[in-house]
Amino acid sequence: MTRISYLALGVLLPVALALPANVPRDLKVNQRQTGAPTNQERAQAVIDAFRLSWEGYYTYAFPGDELKPVTNESSNSRNQWGASAVDALSTALVMQQKDIVNQIIEHIPTINYGKTNSEVSLFETTIRYLGGMISGYDFLSGPLADLAENKANVDALLTQSQHLANNLSYAFETASGVPWNNLRFDTRSNDGSNNGLATVGTLVLEWVRLADLTGNRTYAALAEKAQSYLLAPSPSSSEPFPGLLGMGIDVKTGKFLDAEGGWVGGADSFYEYLIKMWIYDPERYSLYRDRWILAADSSIKHLASHPSSRPEVTFLAAYKGPKPDLVSQHLACFDGGNFILGGQVLGRQDYIDFGLELVNGCHETYTATATGIGPESFNWDPARVPADQAAFYNASGFSITNAGYQLRPEVIESFYYAYRATGDTKYQDWVWTAFQAVTANTRVGSGFSSISNVNVAGGGSFTDFQESFWFAEVLKYSYLTFADEAEWQVGKDGKNAWVFNTEAHPFKVYQG
Ligand SMILES: *[C@@H]1O[C@H](CO)[C@@H](O)[C@H](O)[C@H]1NC(C)=O
Ligand SMILES: *[C@@H]1O[C@H](CO)[C@@H](O)[C@H](O)[C@H]1NC(C)=O
Ligand SMILES: *[C@@H]1O[C@H](CO)[C@@H](O)[C@H](O)[C@H]1NC(C)=O
Ligand SMILES: *[C@@H]1O[C@H](CO)[C@@H](O)[C@H](O)[C@H]1NC(C)=O
Repeated sequence: MTRISYLALGVLLPVALALPANVPRDLKVNQRQTGAPTNQERAQAVIDAFRLSWEGYYTYAFPGDELKPVTNESSNSRNQWGASAVDALSTALVMQQKDIVNQIIEHIPTINYGKTNSEVSLFETTIRYLGGMISGYDFLSGPLADLAENKANVDALLTQSQHLANNLSYAFETASGVPWNNLRFDTRSNDGSNNGLATVGTLVLEWVRLADLTGNRTYAALAEKAQSYLLAPSPSSSEPFPGLLGMGIDVKTGKFLDAEGGWVGGADSFYEYLIKMWIYDPERYSLYRDRWILAADSSIKHLASHPSSRPEVTFLAAYKGPKPDLVSQHLACFDGGNFILGGQVLGRQDYIDFGLELVNGCHETYTATATGIGPESFNWDPARVPADQAAFYNASGFSITNAGYQLRPEVIESFYYAYRATGDTKYQDWVWTAFQAVTANTRVGSGFSSISNVNVAGGGSFTDFQESFWFAEVLKYSYLTFADEAEWQVGKDGKNAWVFNTEAHPFKVYQG
């Protein structure tokens, strides 16, 4: 089924059409009857959604991890340290929501990062909690210092970051230095399972930033040692294309266990961080840049793929050994933005152009569905298109393999990078359309919820979960697309004073 985006019509529509009818009143911006909303109005609509989500969480779920917005209950999938609060901090900061900033930084000193009854993921804890606190510290000890009512709470962001890292650091005590990911703090043990490319390769930015802020080099040394196995992968069969790796890693030896991968979940942010480490500090991390270039070149050469029914559309395939696998995911849609960022900082228009092609492909996954939101996963292998999706595949260029939407950010994230690099307001319109589709279909009860089916009107059913990255990522990238220039915005010209971790927490780049 196809659907013509009204923004593609290039006309100004009256308010009744410019917002889907089921957007709740509390999110409707004060639009002029005859015009599209201004950027200021769009930025305010994102702030309104942020405040509504925060109020629901703070009322019904704080200091738990997540809000269940349908039942107004609390969920604790991240060790009950207040994941949504810590993940929301850097967004509250860039939106300058002073009351919420102070609610969060008063909570953080009270967290006991030594105690939890549930399994701790080294990766998730690093990107959400450590990343959120470090970013908060960078902002509140820097350009947004005015927003903190109590300076002691700012200092606590850094001491709590050290406490958390110190509690986590036994994970690296392995024969190879590749950490365990799944930890039990109560017994200082782990679940014995091997680790993976994304979960090992998405620690280094946070742990190095912490080392640079505190002067404790151990944090950097631990993460860099683990990363060393990913920069020189072994055996060579685990690198089926130069720079593109397998995903399983033996914790005892640091050797790769397979040759399957792509820019997909389980691998994704390893590639993202290669170029971001070089942005963070070009002196120390030139090898990371070189490895990113190898991966980018191989991806353009071997993984760029065009569906038979829509040959003008570009998707990035995954692979099983040297054989491309024509599947992708919402998660993988960060790839366009990462190619654009790499192209900007390296002065490589070819990477920017390829990134924009990938951004277009992910945009197609949004415009094709009944809700205007792309699915969790999809493929474009004609042999695997189910009979009941043949017409959909013919029209859209993909078939849906998992129709859920969990408030993920990657498509909007890449639209943001496309806008920053090109200045083309088309990408702002894409963010606005996506933001409206997401808010219209996920708004329920006291917040916004994951939904089960992006390809039926209304999104199927609410699965009653408001992810913490809704605060950290979706709302931040949406807001920044329409916000004023600021030093933390992604550079328009390849120069960046800040770099975003994979959870969209901005860190100040290293300045010596
Ligand atoms: C773990 O974190 C808590 C505070 O969050 C701290 O009191 C404790 O000392 C930390 N443990 C270690 C081993 O650093
Ligand atoms: C530096 O970090 C390591 C690793 O977490 C920790 O064991 C050590 O106590 C820290 N050193 C200081 C002086 O805080
Ligand atoms: C899809 O396209 C193919 C090839 O053009 C065609 O044979 C088939 O009938 C189409 N299927 C549907 C359901 O439109
Ligand atoms: C949850 O909270 C919202 C907002 O306060 C309210 O409208 C809704 O009725 C509540 N739902 C339940 C099940 O209590």
